[in-house]
Amino acid sequence: MGNPLFDLTYGLFVLSVNVYKRDNACIINTAVQVSSDPQRISISVIKANHTADMLNYTDDFTISTISQKATFDLFKRFGFQSGRDVEKFEGFDGCVRTKNGAYAITEGTNSYISAHIEQRIDLGSHVLIIAKITDMQSLNDDPSATYAYYHSNIKPKPKTDASKAGKTVWRCKVCGYEYEGETLPDGFICPTCNHGAEDFEKVTL
Ligand SMILES: Cc1cc2nc3c(=O)[nH]c(=O)nc-3n(C[C@H](O)[C@H](O)[C@H](O)COP(=O)(O)O)c2cc1C
Repeated sequence: MGNPLFDLTYGLFVLSVNVYKRDNACIINTAVQVSSDPQRISISVIKANHTADMLNYTDDFTISTISQKATFDLFKRFGFQSGRDVEKFEGFDGCVRTKNGAYAITEGTNSYISAHIEQRIDLGSHVLIIAKITDMQSLNDDPSATYAYYHSNIKPKPKTDASKAGKTVWRCKVCGYEYEGETLPDGFICPTCNHGAEDFEKVTL
């Protein structure tokens, strides 16, 4: 028993964009098919993310569906750092350029879908984007990774640090970042993955 929001199921994706010849991508868990005629998907992107900024300058993007073969490195590269600070594709070979110019990830994924944006809906913390599918490709038969699979099998288990024994921390359920203190400040945003206070759990070490 717990927060019903944590009982929702999700897939995991790398959302890629190419704007003015610059590439960037971030991990998302919020892609779903929302219509079949025409085929459309929606994605929900945290507005603080650089990828969200870039999506203001292009109507095209590609999502690559993460498979159970993905390693934590994929999440670290695309989900725990910002394209504002690093070139995420530097030294990364596991990708191909799709027809719309954005990269598809070919390592640790099983397919990709490119789409053209039709609507952007401002939801406060996130922007909800509805887009028509323009191209898609299956890469292999590896099973998709769900968010639950990521938590149980891909995300490393937190290490116990003897110097922190007995202390209370608030741990980000998405990336494992720990904030030390009895209470989490109002409106706290994870400095590693940009998720909000609702994604933190109180843990006594
Ligand atoms: C498992 C996981 C799921 C995530 N889901 C989303 C999501 O649905 N939407 C989103 O905007 N960011 C999501 N993120 C956070 C972004 O991937 C992260 O903030 C990234 O560093 C943003 O990079 P950028 O600033 O280059 O866009 C997720 C991260 C992880 C690790």
